[in-house]
Amino acid sequence: MSGCAEIIVVTNRKGGTGKTTTSVNIAAEFAAQGQRVLLIDMDTQGHCGVGLDVAPTKDAPTVHSLFLSAGFRLADAVYPTVWPNLELIPANPLFEHGSGSGDPTRLAKALQDEGLTERYDMIIIDSPPSFDDLLMNSLCAAKRVLVPFVPHHLSGEGMRNLARILFRVASGANPELKLLAFLPVMLDRRVGQHRSVTEGVAHQYGQGRLLSGIRTDIKLAEAFFHRRPVRAYTPGCRGAEDYAVAAGEIASRLAALALTD
Ligand SMILES: Nc1ncnc2c1ncn2[C@@H]1O[C@H](COP(=O)(O)OP(=O)(O)OP(=O)(O)O)[C@@H](O)[C@H]1O
Ligand SMILES: [Mg+2]
Repeated sequence: MSGCAEIIVVTNRKGGTGKTTTSVNIAAEFAAQGQRVLLIDMDTQGHCGVGLDVAPTKDAPTVHSLFLSAGFRLADAVYPTVWPNLELIPANPLFEHGSGSGDPTRLAKALQDEGLTERYDMIIIDSPPSFDDLLMNSLCAAKRVLVPFVPHHLSGEGMRNLARILFRVASGANPELKLLAFLPVMLDRRVGQHRSVTEGVAHQYGQGRLLSGIRTDIKLAEAFFHRRPVRAYTPGCRGAEDYAVAAGEIASRLAALALTD
């Protein structure tokens, strides 16, 4: 890939559905394949910085500086990581939701105007579960939407709610936005509920949009605690294997979607 970055937002209105785990590990996977990857943490919980061992100091620039100062350069908030080809724009845990300009295209404009879309092959945006300016900015900046979900019966409402928001954004502020895929996480195919919920998603949104999924693996949580992607923490574990497969499937989906642009 070269020229213009793929921009993927990882999102789900429900909390704790593996958005950050997926963002960090997919970013690490593509970077390991030699793609130039930028991960942007829009969630003020700031967990991507934990997952990639980047800790900005209190007044250091973050993605949220963009919403507080009109002349702020987003490129000044890019931090290297110890993993080659992988850079991070971290979050500010002290940012107050609701503050800032209210412009949903602020992030999109900064990425374009500062040439960041030219500097990377892939930009991954980890989004907050809240429905606010930060989510709208994430959706307006992206071209593709990746939805991790936990396959239990309560997940349906969150996804329907998200689908309504995506439809609204794609028919208004960001007509380029397209659904990339659904990614079941903490998946156990032996559990009937997991099978029926994933089959339901395939039925509702199309089999081609359902990725194989990420099995439950404590190594994913441990890797996070040790501030590294799972492929670096325990190469070859279930979580590392599954995220490598997911990255391959995402690359195929991206290629298929590019044909329909
Ligand atoms: N496949 C998995 N196996 C085991 N644990 C997992 C797996 N995926 C995620 N987790 C754990 O589940 C918890 C929630 O994951 P994560 O933080 O990625 O969700 P999130 O959607 O980003 O949450 P939030 O909505 O709060 O931002 C974390 O403790 C994470 O380590
Ligand atoms: Mg998160």
